[in-house]
Amino acid sequence: MQTDDQTSPAQALDAIVARAHTEFSEIDNAAELDQAKARYLGKSGALTNLLKSLGKLPAEQRPTEGDRINRAKQAVEAVLQARREAIRNQQLQAQLSAEVLDVTLPGRGMGVGSLHPITLTLQRIAALFRSIGFAVATGPEIETDYYNFTALNIPEDHPARAMHDTFYIDDDDPLLLRTHTSPIQIRYMQEHKPPIKIIAPGKVYRVDSDATHSPMFHQFEGLWIDEHVSFADLKGVVSDFLQRFFEREALQVRFRPSFFPFTEPSAETDMGCVFCNGDGCRVCGNSGWLEVGGCGMVHPNVLAHVGIDSERYLGFAFGMGIDRLAMLRYGVNDLRLFFENDLRFLKQFV
Ligand code: PHE
Repeated sequence: MQTDDQTSPAQALDAIVARAHTEFSEIDNAAELDQAKARYLGKSGALTNLLKSLGKLPAEQRPTEGDRINRAKQAVEAVLQARREAIRNQQLQAQLSAEVLDVTLPGRGMGVGSLHPITLTLQRIAALFRSIGFAVATGPEIETDYYNFTALNIPEDHPARAMHDTFYIDDDDPLLLRTHTSPIQIRYMQEHKPPIKIIAPGKVYRVDSDATHSPMFHQFEGLWIDEHVSFADLKGVVSDFLQRFFEREALQVRFRPSFFPFTEPSAETDMGCVFCNGDGCRVCGNSGWLEVGGCGMVHPNVLAHVGIDSERYLGFAFGMGIDRLAMLRYGVNDLRLFFENDLRFLKQFV
């Protein structure tokens, strides 16, 4: 048996490289390979130790010996690298054969989506109004100050502007997120001559957020302008709509005097509570009534803004919250459920 003393330094190095080769080739995972690497190239690895002991050699031997050790190091690193790649390939092959895809299998079918409850509600509202001759109009969600306020008889510095909790796009810019669907009235009347009979649904925005208020919510507006349209027609159209929407012929509807700058006279629309039939419960705050929107006869100043002769034409407008109608119809008590996109909730409306 050879002892270290009888082995030349070159042979010793070759033996180390050969040992690394054998050892590495028996390993088949990256973690073990790293441990094996440490035994040769780590802090107290075989080759590292040899490099450290160079100092003990006579000065003239150091370059040759150092060079030899470095070449052995490179050889070990090359073997290591080759083994690493081989292991990676083996794993890839194993993974590929484990995940074979049978392209001849029949498909699993696709999940079918469905319409959002707010969309369903809006479609129902639009259908009911279409059936009595209303067209559907829309407008932009980013509005100018003029359409959202001024043209609706809400001049600058009017307190109603502060009441709206408006999202302004930029302080220096007259652009804002519309706070109601009423600006669509103005845009439509600018483009169309009376008779006008529309509903105008859409998203509106206000700085507000809790169980019954969302910073984004949905409204729809109704507008009927003609030569002989009265408050009695307003009452008839709104009451009939609510009775058909909630499928209750006997639903009570009342009009409470109120104020809106763009209607005169104005009223708040209330309907009998659909949960207690007017007896009083938690939902209606024991009053028996639920507030569902505002309405009134279109103010002559509004007609003047769009060049409609208020001596000849008059009409009414009303606004209602779509989300609120959906909550009441479906018995949903938290508005936020509509906007959290939880499928367990949304699937119930299919
Ligand atoms: N735009 C009003 C609001 O958002 C509602 C309304 C519409 C009132 C039309 C009267 C006529 O509060």
